[in-house]
Amino acid sequence: MPHIPYSELTVESNALTAGSFTSVYKARWLKKRRDVALLVLRHSNQAVLSDMENEIRMFGTLGKHKHLAELLATCTQAQSEDKCMVMEFAPLGSLGHVLSKPHEDGVDIGNLVKIALVMQVAETMTHLHLYKVLHLNLAIRNTLYFRFDPQNWTMVLVKVTDYGLSLLVHKGSSIDMYNNDVGQESAPNL
Ligand SMILES: Nc1ncnc2c1ncn2[C@@H]1O[C@H](COP(=O)(O)OP(=O)(O)OP(=O)(O)O)[C@@H](O)[C@H]1O
Ligand SMILES: [Mg+2]
Repeated sequence: MPHIPYSELTVESNALTAGSFTSVYKARWLKKRRDVALLVLRHSNQAVLSDMENEIRMFGTLGKHKHLAELLATCTQAQSEDKCMVMEFAPLGSLGHVLSKPHEDGVDIGNLVKIALVMQVAETMTHLHLYKVLHLNLAIRNTLYFRFDPQNWTMVLVKVTDYGLSLLVHKGSSIDMYNNDVGQESAPNL
């Protein structure tokens, strides 16, 4: 997993939003000429990088699946020194974004389309379980869309993201928001 200089990225100034663990920015990876999502692990500047490296590597290993958003590189934010993950960028955003247009236009989502997207997400859960990892934060906002057509199931391409952040949380780094003894196998938010 390459650790790239922050200067290789042109980062948009406004975060897409701030979630439980990360602030996400759209960025351009100049060298690779591609858009990426920059996930800044908030307040991780004091976390020992070597403590996080295994988990980030795991994220890289797990993510080699056609329906998991891929981790492309890591880097360190210039000023805050927070650790960052450079992920592939989903042009259509999450399910909420994808559904808003057909909803406004009064277009129905075909049943086969619904089945296709659920099956793609379910496949990733099976894959994670093979590695004995529970997602812990599976939500509509964490399903990202690369292709979508409300009437054509063959056009649906969903990728799940934020898998493996739970691994980082349980490492006892400064992004440990649960501060309890919950193991990797159980969901603290259940
Ligand atoms: N790889 C990506 N490509 C495109 N957009 C993304 C990507 N990753 C995240 N986003 C967008 O950034 C927003 C913020 O993501 P983030 O994970 O920080 O928060 P969240 O998903 O709202 O909450 P949670 O922390 O519970 O996952 C998401 O709503 C999503 O639309
Ligand atoms: Mg998220």
